Amino acid sequence: MGFWGRLLAVALLILSAAADPNDEQCLTHLSESLEDPLNNLQNWTKATFANPCQGFTSFLQGATCNNGRIYKLSLPNLALKGTISPFLSNCTNLQALDLSSNQLSGPIPPDLQYLVNLAVLNLSSNRLSGPIPQQLALCAYLNVIDLHDNQLSGPIPQQLGLLVRLSVFDVSNNKLSGPIPSSLGNRSGNLPRFNASSYEGNKGLYGYPLPPMKSKGLSVLAIVGIGLGSGFVSLVLSFTAVCIWLRVTEKKLANDEGKISQLMPDY
Ligand SMILES: *[C@@H]1O[C@H](CO)[C@@H](O)[C@H](O)[C@H]1NC(C)=O
Ligand SMILES: *[C@@H]1O[C@H](CO)[C@@H](O)[C@H](O)[C@H]1NC(C)=O
Ligand SMILES: *[C@@H]1O[C@H](CO)[C@@H](O)[C@H](O)[C@H]1NC(C)=O
Ligand SMILES: *[C@@H]1O[C@H](CO)[C@@H](O)[C@H](O)[C@H]1NC(C)=O
Ligand SMILES: *[C@@H]1O[C@H](CO)[C@@H](O)[C@H](O)[C@H]1NC(C)=O
Repeated sequence: MGFWGRLLAVALLILSAAADPNDEQCLTHLSESLEDPLNNLQNWTKATFANPCQGFTSFLQGATCNNGRIYKLSLPNLALKGTISPFLSNCTNLQALDLSSNQLSGPIPPDLQYLVNLAVLNLSSNRLSGPIPQQLALCAYLNVIDLHDNQLSGPIPQQLGLLVRLSVFDVSNNKLSGPIPSSLGNRSGNLPRFNASSYEGNKGLYGYPLPPMKSKGLSVLAIVGIGLGSGFVSLVLSFTAVCIWLRVTEKKLANDEGKISQLMPDY
């Protein structure tokens, strides 16, 4: 074999070179944490996890390969249940993760922070709960964070405002609470801005760009009203109590006086 032949052989070997052990771990754990009741995930078997990619060809449904590594996982609308494995972070070349419109539950693993190439994260329309991990701010290339229609709770981490490439951010229809960090609600300079539609449908969330809560203004009035009302009622009650007490003691005094005067010898 000549020089070029050997070079070609080496190049082919590198290209087809098997399976990155990290991708294998990632896929193995992910398939263990997901439930696939409708058997939608074709080729999601141990054998394929050991060799999911050949160059740019993928043998796994929903996976896209780049240079022998998994770089996109797109599994929307497949009736998947179960949870998102933290070992997903072992797919270190992953640029896009779309698990939207399934029935996934449990938390968003903070381990996703190790996906340093991640640009698109779409976990919308699931049943995910727990907090939005502030560690997502470490995925510096994130363009898209779409988490709408889940059951996420707690505050929106202000650290996410550090993501300068963020152009889509949607956390509407969750159970988030607290103030919208101004690093996201009122972005400065020429950073893309997000309007109220990104935040609506979270009962406890407030601040710009959400409209000021009118019901909150009313309830403040209501609280003042209740306070004044109950103050008046307790005033009347205590006044009545004092009156009754005065009367009783007066009577008792009068009685006692009577008793005393009876005991007193007459002069
Ligand atoms: C499953 O794998 C076979 C070969 O291993 C491949 O021909 C087929 O296209 C794969 N199916 C999907 C959905 O990727
Ligand atoms: C794979 O991911 C898990 C969970 O984040 C982590 O503990 C482990 O260190 C990772 N493995 C490698 C080889 O990076
Ligand atoms: C996320 O996925 C949903 C449903 O699959 C889709 O409608 C939505 O447009 C996606 N979000 C983005 C920002 O592409
Ligand atoms: C938004 O930020 C600008 C300065 O960057 C400030 O002047 C403005 O008052 C802020 N708006 C709100 C609603 O917080
Ligand atoms: C809010 O932003 C979304 C997405 O960026 C856009 O589709 C929508 O038209 C905007 N709504 C308003 C009232 O500007």
